[in-house]
Amino acid sequence: IRKIGVMTSGGDSPGMNAAIRSVVRTCAFHKLECIGIYRGYQGLIEGDFKPMDARSVNNIIHKGGTILKSARSKEFRTKEGRDIAFAKAKQQGLDALVVIGGDGSFTGAMIFSEENDFPVMGIPGTIDNDIYGTSSTLGYDTALNTVVDAIDKIRDTASSHNRLFFVEVMGRDVGNIALNAGVGAGAEEILIPEENLGRDRLLESLKRSRASGKSSSIVVVAEGVETGENVFALKDYVEQNLPEYEVRVSVLGHMQRGGSPTCWDRVLASRMGVKAVESLMDGNYNNMVGIQDTKIVLCPLEKAVKGKTAIDKELIRVSDIMTT
Ligand code: F6P
Repeated sequence: IRKIGVMTSGGDSPGMNAAIRSVVRTCAFHKLECIGIYRGYQGLIEGDFKPMDARSVNNIIHKGGTILKSARSKEFRTKEGRDIAFAKAKQQGLDALVVIGGDGSFTGAMIFSEENDFPVMGIPGTIDNDIYGTSSTLGYDTALNTVVDAIDKIRDTASSHNRLFFVEVMGRDVGNIALNAGVGAGAEEILIPEENLGRDRLLESLKRSRASGKSSSIVVVAEGVETGENVFALKDYVEQNLPEYEVRVSVLGHMQRGGSPTCWDRVLASRMGVKAVESLMDGNYNNMVGIQDTKIVLCPLEKAVKGKTAIDKELIRVSDIMTT
């Protein structure tokens, strides 16, 4: 391996810049060439490349977003698109690709590597923390802190007005952000797709909470395009059944994807970037870098793509006890 391409792909997440920096500087340290690929696979198809050296990544460790930009490429989902991408990679003299992204990006990387016998390495970058083979993805910790900060603020106004707030958080179809930020922010109830409690249980819990003397409440709801509750329908349902509640909805949305990464995400990104490049140098192709029990490890890309993550049942129980 002499020349490595690095890209960010799919939904961006805080810590992606720190990971780019780490990949670029590890290449420089080992005297490998590093090529930045703009806009993920779309940039690979279009040959949107820029050689990067240690100085190209100055002053980015603390920045949210990604200096390489990101995209979800439709063209790369087709064989024709991937063939063009491979031709561009060869033209550029790339020997391997580091893809910083989520499961969709890794699926693309896996197919690309199988079709062309091309070495790839994944670094998990997504706020959702929904990737098998790592206990934490880049950006997850930052997103949790962003959500907790937002809920703390919502709590102020909720309590001033004795209101119930439904706060919708991101996470595609997984409840990790909702569950962890919900516990961290002291939510009354946390609705996640993995544990559908049903609306009646929510009503019961809200009744109990009022009866126990609480005047305002925060309910965290995980978004879930396929699986989750529609937060506005929930609001209507509660207002119809519990008229004593004045309800408001706050959808946090894309602000959860921005902001300066936490120290945890920066350190994780730095460690993962080193492992990604050095594993490629050692011939450990087609893996994803992950963290397990504080150790940086490799997980075969196929497992990372196909494996299912599980929600933390113990934390669900903790949350139940905390709402007593
Ligand atoms: O996967 C990251 C994520 O932010 C999800 O939490 C969310 O469902 C989705 O991306 C939003 O995607 P887009 O940026 O395309 O609206």
